[in-house]
Formats: sequence, structure tokens, C-alpha cells
Amino acid sequence: MTDTSNRPFVVAIDGPAAAGKGTLAQALAERLGLPHLDTGLLYRAIGKLMAVRGFDLDDAELAGEFARNLAPEDLRRDDLRGREAGELASRVAVHPEVRAALVDFQRTFAARAPGAVLDGRDIGTVICPDADVKIYVTASAEVRARRRTDELLAKGRDVDYARILEETRDRDHRDANRAVAPLRPADDAVVLDTSDLDRDAALAAALAIVAAKRAARG
Ligand code: DC
Repeated sequence: MTDTSNRPFVVAIDGPAAAGKGTLAQALAERLGLPHLDTGLLYRAIGKLMAVRGFDLDDAELAGEFARNLAPEDLRRDDLRGREAGELASRVAVHPEVRAALVDFQRTFAARAPGAVLDGRDIGTVICPDADVKIYVTASAEVRARRRTDELLAKGRDVDYARILEETRDRDHRDANRAVAPLRPADDAVVLDTSDLDRDAALAAALAIVAAKRAARG
């Protein structure tokens, strides 16, 4: 049998917006003692950097340049988490120039021992096609929009469920229909539908998937 003990253990978590993959990836990384990379932050930072300077997000060449010059401190901005940054990210993420510029950074992160948990849209399909574990986290658009609405209401924001649902569907459509690295489960991904699961149940299900793959890897 091949000795796999020194090979980094890579967990790829993909899925649509607001399916709970970020929270799950972070919790899973903690439990496994692995570093976590939220790859959405890379796209969010590029979108935000361009938007605050008034640049056209549809300019693929320029967006590519921003991606090639992305610096670690750009990921530490405090305005990357919200819905608006997510929309900007989804727009710059359609450009092949942007995606190509971010590949090496993500692969280098994953290749370091002892491994990593990466979450995004194309980790299992493009960035780490040989990942040890691939989980595609999803939930119905209605459930995701409801969770997002409740989160915003809890923060005291005035939001409308119908509008959030429409935005959720629009973002799914853009992410799934772009020409390069569209959002889809890898053929060998395990689909985890969190529509009826709370955070703890989703984490337990993901840990069970990891344990099964680890046992198979030997
Ligand atoms: O995961 P998130 O909500 O932070 O992602 C924001 C947007 O970035 C998402 O709508 C599409 C894009 N994205 C991507 O294209 N590929 C990734 N690996 C991560 C995010």
C-alpha cells in the first residue's frame, strides 16, 4: 500500500452562496487541526478594491491586474464580509484573467503540510481536483434566503425576504453559468444538503464524511 502519511490532507468545500459552507469549513478546519482558506475573500477583495476606486468591474484586463497584485493585507479589510462585497466578488469572478491569477496562491496554500480546508466554488473541480475529501454543501434557495434574511434582521437591518430570495437566485445563476469554472459539484464530491440541518448537525455530517475518506485512504 502507498504511504500517504506525509502527504497533505486536503478538504475541498464548495457550494452556492449562504449554504453555510464558510461556517462549516471553519469549524471543520478547527476540529481537524488544519488551516482554513476562505477563497471567496480573494474575489471579494478584488471586487471591493476596484469598486472603491470607481473602476469598471466588467473590465476583465483590469480586474486581472488587480488579481495579480493582490496583497495579504487586502484580505484583512473589514468591509469584505457583507452582501454587497459578495455581489462585487461574483462579478469579478467571471473573468478568466482573475481566476487564473488566483490559482497558484490557492494551490500553494493547499499543498503545505499538514494540509488544509479550502472553501469556495471551484475547489474540488479546478483548484484541488485531487483533494482527499470533497463536500458540496447546498440548501434550497428558499432556505438560504431565509437564513440570510434572519441574520440581517438580527443585526437590526431592514430587509425583505422576497428581495433576498431574488438576489440569491441571481447570484446562483451567475456563479453556475459563467464560462470558466462554473459552480457545480465535482463528480466525486459528497453532496451535503443542509436545508434541514443546524450547524452542529452539518458539522457532524461533514466529520463523518471525512472519517470515511480517511479510513479509505489508509
Ligand atoms: O463564498 P463567497 O460568498 O464569499 O463568494 C463570493 C463570490 O465569489 C461568489 O458569488 C463567487 C465568487 N467565488 C468564486 O467564483 N470562486 C471561489 N472559489 C470563491 C468565490
